[in-house]
Amino acid sequence: MEGTRVRRLEKRDIAAAIALTDLEAWGYTTADFRRLLDLSPEGCFAAELRGRVVGVLTTTTYGPLAFLGAVIVSPDLRGKGVGQQMMEAALRHLQETGVRTVRLYAYLNAVRFYERLGFQAEYEVVRWHGGATAGAGQPGVRPVRRADLDGLVRMDATYFGSDRRALITRLAKEFANTFLVAERAGHVRGFIVGNASGTSCEIGPWVVEPTSKDAAQDLFTALVGAAGISEVAFGGPSRNGALLKFVQGHGFKEVFRSLRMRWGADEVPGNPEGIWALGGLEKG
Ligand SMILES: CC(C)(COP(=O)(O)OP(=O)(O)OC[C@H]1O[C@@H](n2cnc3c(N)ncnc32)[C@H](O)[C@@H]1OP(=O)(O)O)[C@@H](O)C(=O)NCCC(=O)NCCS
Repeated sequence: MEGTRVRRLEKRDIAAAIALTDLEAWGYTTADFRRLLDLSPEGCFAAELRGRVVGVLTTTTYGPLAFLGAVIVSPDLRGKGVGQQMMEAALRHLQETGVRTVRLYAYLNAVRFYERLGFQAEYEVVRWHGGATAGAGQPGVRPVRRADLDGLVRMDATYFGSDRRALITRLAKEFANTFLVAERAGHVRGFIVGNASGTSCEIGPWVVEPTSKDAAQDLFTALVGAAGISEVAFGGPSRNGALLKFVQGHGFKEVFRSLRMRWGADEVPGNPEGIWALGGLEKG
């Protein structure tokens, strides 16, 4: 769209970014955008037209891998090439900073938009929502400690595909009471992070070794107790069979599906059998 300029998203743009994402009821808060900007200060973009922010897009980089998300264009300007302009600027930036693989979770009606930019389908991710009741204390589950971080980041990378140290360290500080670890004999078997707001809680990341499936239930039960909530929401891969059984057992409802897509090298795929909840649709 003529006159549109794509530039870095700055802290002063956060209110405008939220005004846009609120139109789709994505639920982003100031803290969410601050976190995204702190993690990738040069990797978040705004499209500006005549001094007005008319588009937003964020990226989060984990070594050779980046996740791209929160892609939105002002409704009055959709279909005029602004989205494509922002995507091309972001992909150029990521390539220049050494990223080899870019992934995202596409709403199904946006798949064609991403395909035209060279993205290819990987697998579906399902958003779940449901009620939860706290259980008794879970042995072996406790809040994260600083000393856990090295082992935890290594374990996470096995399933996520790349090193998320910056994100995990940030979440451990920000959500000290609702970042829980399942440990046996000094070995981290899994972890869960909850971001509670009122009576509901957004869960993720939630990562558990496939050989320790019982730890996933223990972490979930402990989180519901620690956060004092009665409702949960999270997104997890359709390729985790144990997760599908878990959500069925709890009677959780499917809210929507998105398609994980890849651009660039087919590398660092991770293992979805260890992923119970994404860190977020925009962060992977
Ligand atoms: C998806 C979106 C970011 C694309 O930005 P845009 O500036 O409209 O995109 P462009 O003009 O560069 O490309 C248009 C293409 O986007 C796709 N598109 C997806 N949703 C669309 C919408 N609501 N309106 C117009 N185009 C849309 C179409 O495939 C269209 O291609 P077509 O012209 O062949 O039909 C924008 O439409 C939007 O903000 N949609 C709502 C939020 C959303 O769903 N974001 C994606 C989350 S994964």
